[in-house]
Amino acid sequence: MSGIILLGMQWGDEGKGKATDLLGNKVDCVVKFNGGNNAGHTVVIKDKHYALHLLPSGILNPKITPVIANGAVIDIKVLFDELDQLKKRGIDTSKLLVSGNAHIITKYHRQMDLALENDPAKKKIGTTQRGIGPAYADKISRSGIRVYDLFSKNTDTSQNSILQEKIASSLASKNKIFANYGQKPITSAEVLQEIEPYLDRLRPMVTDTSKFLNTALNSGKKVLFEGGQGTCLDIDFGTYPYVTSSNCTAGGALTGAGIPPTKISHIVGILKAYTTRVGEGPFPTELYPFYNQPAKSDQTVDDPSIGKFLLEKGHEYGVTTGRARRIGWADGLVAKYSAMINGITDIVLTKLDVLTGLDTIKICTAYKIDGKIYQTMPANINDFFNAKPIYSEFAGWKENIKNARKLADLPYNAQKYVKFLEKFIGARISLVGVGPQRDEIIKLHNFV
Ligand code: GDP
Ligand code: IMO
Ligand code: MG
Repeated sequence: MSGIILLGMQWGDEGKGKATDLLGNKVDCVVKFNGGNNAGHTVVIKDKHYALHLLPSGILNPKITPVIANGAVIDIKVLFDELDQLKKRGIDTSKLLVSGNAHIITKYHRQMDLALENDPAKKKIGTTQRGIGPAYADKISRSGIRVYDLFSKNTDTSQNSILQEKIASSLASKNKIFANYGQKPITSAEVLQEIEPYLDRLRPMVTDTSKFLNTALNSGKKVLFEGGQGTCLDIDFGTYPYVTSSNCTAGGALTGAGIPPTKISHIVGILKAYTTRVGEGPFPTELYPFYNQPAKSDQTVDDPSIGKFLLEKGHEYGVTTGRARRIGWADGLVAKYSAMINGITDIVLTKLDVLTGLDTIKICTAYKIDGKIYQTMPANINDFFNAKPIYSEFAGWKENIKNARKLADLPYNAQKYVKFLEKFIGARISLVGVGPQRDEIIKLHNFV
């Protein structure tokens, strides 16, 4: 029982990269089990900033075996570009293992993502335009390409490889759609050109990662499953359709890595002390820019300068697309829901330092939807789109908290804020982030 799942409790960008790095010294493997290069995980080590997209953050630690498991989607060129950049910065990337059952993202997936996002007849999701949704769509519709397919021989007498056949078959239908969008068809040669130069380098990394991880766990090794995105972006449990295309929740780690639930000892939820989201979709506690949601009739809107303050102070700009993130107050109902869906055992509360300086801080503790009060997330996500936040208010603090290393070092009002969140969510807060650096952390409980 030494599997630890680490995941986002909101809409992504909660600080999963930093938390993974913090636990790094205590684990043997770090596994990416969902998503692809839509993720952007930041790790700050002294004056060095690393932004990990397709690679698990654990790759920065030479003792760790990094694994990209079957549930992830891989853009092969992006993978090697990212590896090469890390190598240039002196990181040893030679231990990386890649699942043969992971699906690949090709040029036609990226083009489809773009075409669907720009289709005026379709709701814009605000995707990262990395081809994530179309690659998962192919996986589910059984027309995707797995990493093993890149190396498999055809058993029939055909002159074409399995890869060539799969690409040709996909393009036959996709090019019809591209034609409807007035776009040029994509040729098999273009797709292959992006993949083939990397095959010799990829081959030695490819393995049965499920077997590898189960063997590691059975021999007492510690494995950290590092989630991409966050609970509210989960394809089943998020704010559908404004979600990503994978399961970012705890169950996704099991199917995305081929691990039984009995191997998991801890489920660590990463929770930002306020909320951010990138892209379109409902966001009841949104403070800034508030452009997506005209205020509801009886809703008081907070001064937008508060959201702008948090945006700038928290450097809330996307690691992958550079987009300014939307900013809102903490949403207790989202956090409680996430704790339930994932079975969170420990919370890492991040970016408490960013709230320093505010006179008043709010936490949403109920919604009003069509005149009715909700104490928990509505079951029908369409109701969530009309949710008006009801807040509990807290007095802020002005003291710099970056040097706090235990709860008692925090100003009384900051302690009160942390304790209220913990009680409201009903899961213990084990670490509190007070800055981006490794040591800017308050440890409340040892858990790994
Ligand atoms: P991820 O996608 O969940 O890994 O999060 P991102 O890396 O996209 O965004 C989190 C940002 O917050 C990064 O710039 C981190 O360096 C930073 N960060 C993480 N924890 C803290 C914290 O406790 N305080 C502050 N000020 N920054 C933090
Ligand atoms: P990390 O791992 C925040 C959002 C996109 C968009 C929606 C669908 O860094 O927390 P996609 O390209 O996945 O089809 O886009 O999901 N999104 C993220 N938002 N953090 C992420 O990753 C995200 N990955 C995807 O902005 O709204
Ligand atoms: Mg991120």
